[in-house]
Amino acid sequence: MSDFQLTRTLDEHSADTALRADVLHGLTASPKVLPPKWFYDARGSELFEEITRLPEYYPTRAEREILLARAGEIAAASGARTLVELGSGSSEKTRHLIEAMPALDTYIPVDVSESALEGAARTLQAEHPGLRVHALVADFTKPLRLPEAPGPRLVVFLGGTVGNLLPPERAEFLASVRAMLSPGDALLMGTDLVKDEDVLVAAYDDAQGVTAEFNKNVLAVVNRELGADFRTDDFTHVAVWNREQEWIEMRLRARSDLVVKVRALDLVVPFAAGEEILTEVSAKFRQDGVRRELAEAGLQLTQWWTDGEGRFALSLAVADGETGWAGTPASSEEAGRARVTGTTGTDETATAA
Ligand code: AVJ
Repeated sequence: MSDFQLTRTLDEHSADTALRADVLHGLTASPKVLPPKWFYDARGSELFEEITRLPEYYPTRAEREILLARAGEIAAASGARTLVELGSGSSEKTRHLIEAMPALDTYIPVDVSESALEGAARTLQAEHPGLRVHALVADFTKPLRLPEAPGPRLVVFLGGTVGNLLPPERAEFLASVRAMLSPGDALLMGTDLVKDEDVLVAAYDDAQGVTAEFNKNVLAVVNRELGADFRTDDFTHVAVWNREQEWIEMRLRARSDLVVKVRALDLVVPFAAGEEILTEVSAKFRQDGVRRELAEAGLQLTQWWTDGEGRFALSLAVADGETGWAGTPASSEEAGRARVTGTTGTDETATAA
């Protein structure tokens, strides 16, 4: 009898439908664009794990340093009985946090990948027999309703992944996080910081070419899932620092004039030599900007911790007494709501909404 439960809020077709829409829209747009979430099939997730071990890619190590140093403070400041992790993946980073939280009652890992979620959540539950684990298969960029769980709640969003969202998407995301919280609940968020261009570009264009392979993996995903005929050798990996926006852009640049067919969409996509697909934006932050964006969502920055070299920051923010935000867009009230069983302490209950 284990205290493990899993709720699905995504059906099997939703990923396919979303990929089709993104590819159709993105490859007929000008400039061309593909959203970064499609990097992460099994191969892409493996390549990202490899990236986190590269000498040039400091964010993972810097964030781990902060988490290790501050887990006790984070636990004490939040007083959380429920920990919600958005984009939990392997739940590796959260382990330190969970171990520092003896009063923790419930852990709610949220991820779009059911396979990653299930394994990690079950392992964690087995290591912490007193802990309820309620895994949620969900797209956390959409508003989501959390299962019943005792407050205070701490929502954590690590890795700097918030930087993959464009500013308007970030505002919507932070507002939807605020909507999950009650006054006094908190958000812990990891953000990579603005620094020397050379250091930033190297982190996204490593000497071994792992990031180039990761970038090109999105083409392999589109080939496999939608019957496209991208040849990865026809494209070069490009990483540039956008000084005005303060974000890194990853792009794939066509080496020559070429044509790509996407069979499942009946689509023919011409590329001119040198034409690029924007595949990722990874924003870098400053404390003032983070404070302002949080405040606009009704979240008050209370703690700001950086690693010893000041490369990366963890922010702790508490939900204001008043809602402080203008409300979610009309459609998002209903969109992406989980149907939650509301029972805990049972064996796995899978709920498809
Ligand atoms: C996992 C989104 C935080 O933006 O740094 C790594 C992904 N892209 N190298 C990032 C990524 C290229 C990473 N995040």
